[in-house]
Amino acid sequence: MPAAPPAHPSGARPPTLPPDRVPRHVAVVMDGNGRWAAGRGLPRTEGHRAGEEALVEVVAGAIEAQVGWLSVYAFSTENWRRTPAEVRFLMGYSRQVLRARRDLFDSWNVRVRWSGQRRRLWPSVVTELVEAEALTAGNTGLTLTLCVNYGGRAEIADAAARLAAAERPITEESLTADLSTPDVDLFWRTSGEARLSNFLIWQAAYAELVFTGKLWPDVDRRDLWDAIVQYADRDRRYGAA
Ligand code: FPP
Repeated sequence: MPAAPPAHPSGARPPTLPPDRVPRHVAVVMDGNGRWAAGRGLPRTEGHRAGEEALVEVVAGAIEAQVGWLSVYAFSTENWRRTPAEVRFLMGYSRQVLRARRDLFDSWNVRVRWSGQRRRLWPSVVTELVEAEALTAGNTGLTLTLCVNYGGRAEIADAAARLAAAERPITEESLTADLSTPDVDLFWRTSGEARLSNFLIWQAAYAELVFTGKLWPDVDRRDLWDAIVQYADRDRRYGAA
């Protein structure tokens, strides 16, 4: 029997919205870990460590708000440009977070998926991602896509190459269907930066963008709910008058 995530300690409950106002797919850029650490005189890696709890909170909040898909940007194809020490930390840390949290996510009926490039990624991280996918493949609740070694342009180029190799037509519809996640409704980024940074750029073509000033480690599920309420208040027209 799947368990529900425990309620937030404050007693806060998710917003009550008509189901068609709840975003089906939320994309999250978990930004600001480095600045959070710098503000406390700590090494950047301590910011990443503190971000783990925020991730678990936001997964719980997405389940409670009845979001169907949550995609999080854990490591971008550009993150290899960070210092070797930070890259090494982020690889080991991703592996550790996956190992430590997969049973919890499984107990919440979360289906974990990985989107990203295999190239350069530590084999032990790939193993951990593939094992988490296999463990949770039959779950029917939230789909949590961990974007690790992910780049939006690369995802589009790879999908086009697959279609071409299969001699299938390359159209908006076939490309959309071949990507790892559906269209994004709400694109949420923390830390005050207002950029897409190559995250789900095809899927976010019509997304509502919400930017929050808080740094990622300071975030909890109530911040996700604030973003969802902002989304619900928007008037989505998809180019129509
Ligand atoms: C961005 O902050 C954050 C990251 C690059 C890493 C986020 C990863 C997690 C919270 C763990 C999730 C991992 C998995 C695979 C489950 P930043 O370093 O860019 O912060 P800054 O902009 O302040 O420097």
